[in-house]
Amino acid sequence: MTHVNPVCFTSRSHDPDTFPHLSSCSCNIEQWDSDEPVPRSELLEKVAGIRGLYCLLTEKIDAEVLDAAGPSLQVVSTMSVGYDHVSLEELKKRGIRLGYTPDVLTEAVAELTVALLLATSRRLLEAVDEAKNGGWGTWKPLWMCGYGLTDSTVGILGLGRIGAAVMARLKPFGVKRFLYADTGPRPDMATKIPAEFVPLEELARHSDFVVVCCALTPETQGICASSLFSLMKDTAIFINTSRGGVVNQEDLYQALVNGQIAAAGLDVTEPEPLPIDHPLLKLKNCGESVLKPAEKQWLKMVI
Ligand SMILES: NC(=O)c1ccc[n+]([C@@H]2O[C@H](COP(=O)([O-])OP(=O)(O)OC[C@H]3O[C@@H](n4cnc5c(N)ncnc54)[C@H](O)[C@@H]3O)[C@@H](O)[C@H]2O)c1
Repeated sequence: MTHVNPVCFTSRSHDPDTFPHLSSCSCNIEQWDSDEPVPRSELLEKVAGIRGLYCLLTEKIDAEVLDAAGPSLQVVSTMSVGYDHVSLEELKKRGIRLGYTPDVLTEAVAELTVALLLATSRRLLEAVDEAKNGGWGTWKPLWMCGYGLTDSTVGILGLGRIGAAVMARLKPFGVKRFLYADTGPRPDMATKIPAEFVPLEELARHSDFVVVCCALTPETQGICASSLFSLMKDTAIFINTSRGGVVNQEDLYQALVNGQIAAAGLDVTEPEPLPIDHPLLKLKNCGESVLKPAEKQWLKMVI
């Protein structure tokens, strides 16, 4: 619905129920009436004179947008828990408040992270491809063997809401040790599991599964690079469900091709989605079906 002189602009079409409070007051809301992101030029035009802006992570909210909005803008809200697309510095300079949506997706992202971890470590997508393209010949004992969670060490980079929810879900799989790296110890999140706070390098050295759940900040930008991959086990599984910018994708590609790590599962990339000819999308899964000692089938007598 378009009003003259809108007070608030939303950068995507939303169900009216999304804004019960705004709808019940006499607040004029103009929506970008599409499921596609608002083009930058339109955004710059639409924000002029508004008091509130509701955006998604597809909109970069920087000095240019804030200047286009002008001094009337009092609050920016983003429909995301991550707010790396919003310049906090520019908001602070102008005294504009920022709203976000923590916890809305914690359970969903934790489930997705576990699904991605299992699919990657147990090579599910590769196996489905092989079944469809005729690559599944006769049964071979070591073919498509992956890596198991039982007795493993899982390292979480960023033990926030999602990281803790991932750990809670992985615990029943028989994980032996949980490690985490963060800006400091998080006993509120770690005690129940329990998980040990360690430097990131130690986490990389000891983990069979490295799961990235941290916020994207200037400090975490590109933190998963060759220096980290080179410390990891060559049987390690790397999972990222935080933000693509946390990973140096060229370094990840090299680590996968060179067998420095076994496989990676990425829910987030830079850009999103990756162009379909991106080298990472050409990789099946790196590393041979090397069995870890814990996976060896020790011979037992049946009769
Ligand atoms: N894949 C998706 O669809 C999806 C959905 C929601 C959120 N996310 C991402 O997940 C992230 C985490 O969400 P959350 O709700 O758990 O947030 P959170 O704020 O509870 O957790 C973020 C954690 O990252 C840690 N962190 C920040 N800087 C760090 C650093 N330099 N080194 C190590 N750790 C650091 C924080 O201390 C905190 O523990 C979000 O920031 C967002 O980017 C992704």
